[in-house]
Amino acid sequence: MNRAADQTQANPLREGLSARAVPQPCSIVIFGATGDLTHRKLIPALYNLAADGELPPAVTVIGFARREKSSDEFRRELEESTRKFSRQTVRDEIWKPFAQSIFYHQSDFAAESGYQSLAAKLDKIDKERGTRGNRLFYFAVAPDQFEPILKNLKAAGLNKTREGSWARVIVEKPFGTDLASARELNRVVRNSFTEEQTYRIDHFLGKETAQNILVLRFANAIFEPLWNTRYIDHVQITAAETLGVEGRAGYYEGAGALRDMVQNHLLQLLCLVAMEAPTDLGADSIRDEKVKVVRSLRRMTAQDILNKVVRGQYQEGMINGKPAPGYRAEKNVDPKSMTETFVALQLNIDNWRWWDVPIYMRVGKRLPKSGTEISVHFKKAPLVLFNKETTDENVLVIRIQPDEGISLRMQAKMPGTSFRIEPVKMDFHYGTSFGKASPEAYERLLLDAMSGDATLFARCDEVEEAWAFIDAIESAWATKKDPPELFFYPAGSWGPDAADELLARDARAWRRL
Ligand code: BG6
Repeated sequence: MNRAADQTQANPLREGLSARAVPQPCSIVIFGATGDLTHRKLIPALYNLAADGELPPAVTVIGFARREKSSDEFRRELEESTRKFSRQTVRDEIWKPFAQSIFYHQSDFAAESGYQSLAAKLDKIDKERGTRGNRLFYFAVAPDQFEPILKNLKAAGLNKTREGSWARVIVEKPFGTDLASARELNRVVRNSFTEEQTYRIDHFLGKETAQNILVLRFANAIFEPLWNTRYIDHVQITAAETLGVEGRAGYYEGAGALRDMVQNHLLQLLCLVAMEAPTDLGADSIRDEKVKVVRSLRRMTAQDILNKVVRGQYQEGMINGKPAPGYRAEKNVDPKSMTETFVALQLNIDNWRWWDVPIYMRVGKRLPKSGTEISVHFKKAPLVLFNKETTDENVLVIRIQPDEGISLRMQAKMPGTSFRIEPVKMDFHYGTSFGKASPEAYERLLLDAMSGDATLFARCDEVEEAWAFIDAIESAWATKKDPPELFFYPAGSWGPDAADELLARDARAWRRL
């Protein structure tokens, strides 16, 4: 399929400027349909789209999984989880017709016959429900299942499209565990689907405020002239969670915070903050600019990794007055585990705009508060007029979650006869300004995939470049002889002291969330 046909004009950034393309009727086949992601995120997201009238009525969901069960049983289980996890309260009058568009297809992922029968079922659904031969295959499975599924889809001819219809594949993270495995995965996917048919999910890109970064930067004329090394002192990106590993040790033990959060989510946020203005709002124009940012990241030497990267692991502690176990005591975690649950690092983007502007990132589990934010710290005003002690920097904070919004900190004179200066905040909250809740990231992303808009999905070169940067750190950590230290921090603290020292050395401090 050619790119022009597959990438329609839909784009969230164009909302209000031109009509958003409507998602097309299609069958959504979810591999791994009995798993957590389907129950917690995918079906609740589809239900909410249906409730908001965003879903064409013909859209049909086929859950593909190994366990024996009937469509009715499957629907009942999904109803229960949707009632638990849905953003909006589940209303019977919406759920009932929505549930009738869900079917179960039992098969082993490796059984070719299961895909022949799937193809027949999809043809039948096209005729009966008007899905027009459009297919969206969602891989909510562990990466080792990708290859058999892709091979069998191809063997059953399900990667091919007929005139006027489309087939797309959505791939969940983790997309590889290093550069070599990501390349291999890209190769395997490419054997069955083209890059234009492939949608790699990074759910942070579907978050409302992440999408707003480009609007903030490029729809307002006041920021762009200041958005560079001349006016910006440094940038901080923090993703803090109070949650621990939450029964995901099987995956997390082999991943750790750097692979789990930095390689994908945090680098994606950085790209949005640091990229140049794209030539237009097409998916590839935006992604072309993003990939240049990752490509410009200064590669770290062994010495840089020692000096500029801090890894940590939580120990027993208290969060919100409740005791929390240490990571090594969590279920299925090796009692001698060296997996990091916290990373703080300083990186640099070697281009003209960001020359000499340090970027500090920090991510961690079992921190005192949950929140993701980006703060842009501007250089101080010349210290010639006011009291040097009280003059502070201007900070633009982009709150990704919770309480999505943007604030700008500036200096103001305190009322009174003296010239006392205090920082004040100009604040924009999504909730109060627009008076409605933002959709969940998965709602936006599913809708975009159905509309053929790949803007908010990672392209293969972005993923590979990000791994190239991360690999150097992972391999330094994996060295047997004198590896960089793993620092411990009590659950409920802001990470190890070494993370504070990283900034203190540069006479800076982490922003308090
Ligand atoms: C996932 C990570 O991608 O993102 C999790 O695997 C993490 O470890 C989660 O908890 C955070 O996402 P959110 O949307 O809850 O901030």
